[in-house]
Amino acid sequence: MIVIGSDHGGLLLKTALTGYLERRGVGVTDAGTNGDASVDYPDFGRKVAESVISGEAEAGILICGTGIGMSIAANKIPGIRAALVTDVFMARMAKEHNNANVLVLGGRVLDEQKACDLVGAWFDAAFEGGRHQARLDKITALEKKYS
Ligand code: RB5
Repeated sequence: MIVIGSDHGGLLLKTALTGYLERRGVGVTDAGTNGDASVDYPDFGRKVAESVISGEAEAGILICGTGIGMSIAANKIPGIRAALVTDVFMARMAKEHNNANVLVLGGRVLDEQKACDLVGAWFDAAFEGGRHQARLDKITALEKKYS
């Protein structure tokens, strides 16, 4: 199951991506927001990140206007590897090299087709492990040292 969340700046893309994932047969949980009202992106970043960390969701997708705020917020939660991507190569690398468990997109940056392409590339890729796992272990050590 994938958990997806956005602020008002990512709402349209959240709706489009939910449909895309469901058409692919992927279970999706909607963490909000679900209206046009201005909301604070850290609240939804936290909800999605906590769902991933608890194991309730296998991975998450976050969308705000640029993707920047959501990625900053989600990456504060230990164990989250949130990757803001803007092209298919980055989306694939986010999984293959970084094992990103949260994909972050900009709702005011991407059109719907591009966003679906990015989610598909990330979703279909596989983590390569090996030297990349050793690097992730160093990130985990940084989290431990500074939290
Ligand atoms: C909201 O206006 C906007 O700041 C937010 O969606 C996001 O782009 C923040 O990084």
